[in-house]
Amino acid sequence: MKRGKILKVIVAITGATGSIFGIRILEILKNIKEVETHLLLSKWGKKTIESETNYTVERVGLLADYTYDIANLGARISSGSFQIDAMIIAPCSMKTLASIRMGFADNLVSRAADVILKERKKLILLTRETPLNTIHLENMLALSRMGTIMLPPMPAFYNNPETIDDLVSHIAYRTVDQLGIILPDLKRWTGLA
Ligand SMILES: Cc1cc2nc3c(=O)[nH]c(=O)nc-3n(C[C@H](O)[C@H](O)[C@H](O)COP(=O)(O)O)c2cc1C
Repeated sequence: MKRGKILKVIVAITGATGSIFGIRILEILKNIKEVETHLLLSKWGKKTIESETNYTVERVGLLADYTYDIANLGARISSGSFQIDAMIIAPCSMKTLASIRMGFADNLVSRAADVILKERKKLILLTRETPLNTIHLENMLALSRMGTIMLPPMPAFYNNPETIDDLVSHIAYRTVDQLGIILPDLKRWTGLA
C-alpha cells in the first residue's frame, strides 16, 4: 500500500455464484482505514446476494464507503481522471469477463474495468464458472496478457480449513493480498515439515 495515502478500490459483485467472496472482501477492507471502497452491484449480483447469503443488498451497501448505480455511466469512476488504484470483481461472471475483454463498456462495471485497463491500474477478477469453455479461457488469457490478475475462487486445503467460512476467507485474504496489504489473518504456506 502507498504510505500516507488512501487506497481507492472498486469492488464489484456480478451475477456468478459466490457473492459471499465479494462480501467478505468488503468486510476485510472496511477494517483497513487507509482503504476507500467504491461498490458496484450488477442486477444478477444482487439476485445472488439475496439467494445465496443471509445478507440483504442494503447491508452489503453499508460495507462500502460509496455505492453507485451500474446504469450510471456518468458516475465519477467512469472517468480515468478520478484516480482509482485497483478494481476487484468478485465474483466475475463470464458475461462481465467477455464484456471487459472486448472493451464493451455498456454498464459501470465494464466501463470502470475498461478505465482501469487504460490507466494501467490493477484489475483483479475472481472469475467463476465450471467447466470452462474455450471462449471463457480465451477471454481470461487475453486479459491476463494485459496484466489482469486472474484469481478464480479455487479453494485451498494446505491451510486445513474446517468450515466453508474458512475457505471463503482464505480466497478473500489472497485477493486483498494482491493489493499489497499485509493481513496477519492469512495462513501462508511455510513449507512441509
Ligand atoms: C443463481 C445464478 C448463478 C449463476 N452463476 C453463474 C456463474 O457461476 N458464472 C457465470 O458466468 N454466470 C452465472 N450465472 C449467469 C449470470 O448471472 C448471467 O450471465 C448474467 O447475465 C451476468 O450478468 P452480470 O455479469 O452483469 O452480473 C448465474 C445466474 C444465476 C441466476
